[in-house]
Amino acid sequence: MTDKVASHYSATTHNLADAIAEKLREAGKDTGALTTADLGAIDEFHVRGRKATLELAGELGLTAASRVLDIGSGLGGPARTLAEAYGCHVTGIDLTPVFCEAATALSKWVGLGDKVSFQQGDATELPFADGSFDTAMTIHVAMNIAAKDRMYAEARRVLKSGGRFGIYDVLQGEGGDVLYPVPWAREPSISHVATPDEMQSLLSGAGFKILSVRDSTDEGQQWFEAMAERMKQGGAPPLTFRTFLGDDFAEMTRNQVRNLQERRIRTVSYVCAA
Ligand SMILES: C[S@@+](CC[C@H](N)C(=O)[O-])C[C@H]1O[C@@H](n2cnc3c(N)ncnc32)[C@H](O)[C@@H]1O
Repeated sequence: MTDKVASHYSATTHNLADAIAEKLREAGKDTGALTTADLGAIDEFHVRGRKATLELAGELGLTAASRVLDIGSGLGGPARTLAEAYGCHVTGIDLTPVFCEAATALSKWVGLGDKVSFQQGDATELPFADGSFDTAMTIHVAMNIAAKDRMYAEARRVLKSGGRFGIYDVLQGEGGDVLYPVPWAREPSISHVATPDEMQSLLSGAGFKILSVRDSTDEGQQWFEAMAERMKQGGAPPLTFRTFLGDDFAEMTRNQVRNLQERRIRTVSYVCAA
């Protein structure tokens, strides 16, 4: 199952950093002088991008001394955003080797190589000792994971007592089944969206105290509608998730607009204490 998930995310290229560098050059960027803002359209791989990451991070009580774990770190955008905004150190773990390699390369490009590190691994079996981190975060990952009880138990285990856990994920809405393909799955076998009620009991069951819940579905819908409109007008920037998701990203975007409009999915964030 985990192989199918990693294959989904690496369907188009095995050297993602090179593919991204080529797109950046096409866009007229000097690849020797990149900033995190140049990467935002591709490395924050979730609904509402960097804005959503900063909103969640703002609830986590981060300081420059924080040791943070990003579970399902993707191309490393959220980890770099936190490291840049707060000066903290972020460790990213992700199932997809292509993403871990790209995350490491992109971090060096923007001069954050010493503030973030990435390694391949599974969220349901974290390779870290108990109480290793002050803070943990996971953004748009659990919808690929059936064993969410194990995922959240592992997050709780590697956090220090009292540490914050920020979650921002796609949940099953009340409007019917998810329409596929979507950015996290081309078909249902690797998609495991929990309902809001299930999330509450999963997080409590793992020993977390839920401090706040925020539903951002309306904003997420507007964000995807704007992206679909840009793509329809042919005005999409050269660097988009299409670079690694391939040409069916256009259909994924159209489906996401409907999934959000019809409340087949919801985007919800949780801030918890370990
Ligand atoms: C939609 S991307 C989000 C990436 C990143 N969190 C972000 O917001 O930019 C989902 C990520 O979850 C990772 N993932 C899925 N299942 C996982 C698992 N069992 N353990 C670790 N990572 C996983 C995928 O490899 C992918 O990078």
